[in-house]
Amino acid sequence: MKVIGINGSARKDGNTALLIGKVFDELKKEGIECEMLQLAGKTVRGCKACYGCYNNKDRRCVIKDDPVQECIDKMAQADGIILGSPVYVADVSSEMKALIDRACLVNRANGSFLRRKVGAGVMAVRRGGAVHAFDTMNHFFSISEMVIVSSSYWNFALGREVGDVLKDEEGLQTMKVLGENMAWLLKKIHN
Ligand SMILES: Cc1cc2nc3c(=O)[nH]c(=O)nc-3n(C[C@H](O)[C@H](O)[C@H](O)COP(=O)(O)O)c2cc1C
Repeated sequence: MKVIGINGSARKDGNTALLIGKVFDELKKEGIECEMLQLAGKTVRGCKACYGCYNNKDRRCVIKDDPVQECIDKMAQADGIILGSPVYVADVSSEMKALIDRACLVNRANGSFLRRKVGAGVMAVRRGGAVHAFDTMNHFFSISEMVIVSSSYWNFALGREVGDVLKDEEGLQTMKVLGENMAWLLKKIHN
């Protein structure tokens, strides 16, 4: 079994990456393969609303010069998907939103190939807006017919500078429980 984590932060290896890594730690303990893709430093374009994905029906976005197609391909191959984002102005990053919009349309145009995969959103946040960002990522999972896995609190940890989230004990506990629950659910589904 495999879980793909996509980090929508503009900071490579920042707080969001650290949190995805904490969820991965629990998944790996259960023998689940994990891979992280980071969007930092890459240009990610928004949906053109051309509906090419509906016309072509090849599980591909017509935009070929950015990392979104690789993300879609890896999501299609994975059993579980973690979307990670820093909170920017009380929502996900622009890059994460562009990925969500395009992956959502490609999935719907192609028979909902993400159906029944397990999904979770994870947020790094200085102070406010995490639940709104959480909602944004959950909207993607739910319209994609995915199974959303939960934790003991909403999936965020607090921090501004890189590494700050490692001081948020409750946030780290939330990531641990999320990883445990995701592993449990994946094993139930794939038994
Ligand atoms: C453009 C921008 C907008 C931000 N907006 C918020 C916000 O609305 N609420 C908040 O608590 N923190 C906000 N932050 C702080 C980040 O969420 C926080 O630093 C987070 O830990 C960054 O995660 P990263 O290291 O993965 O990039 C913002 C940061 C940036 C750069």
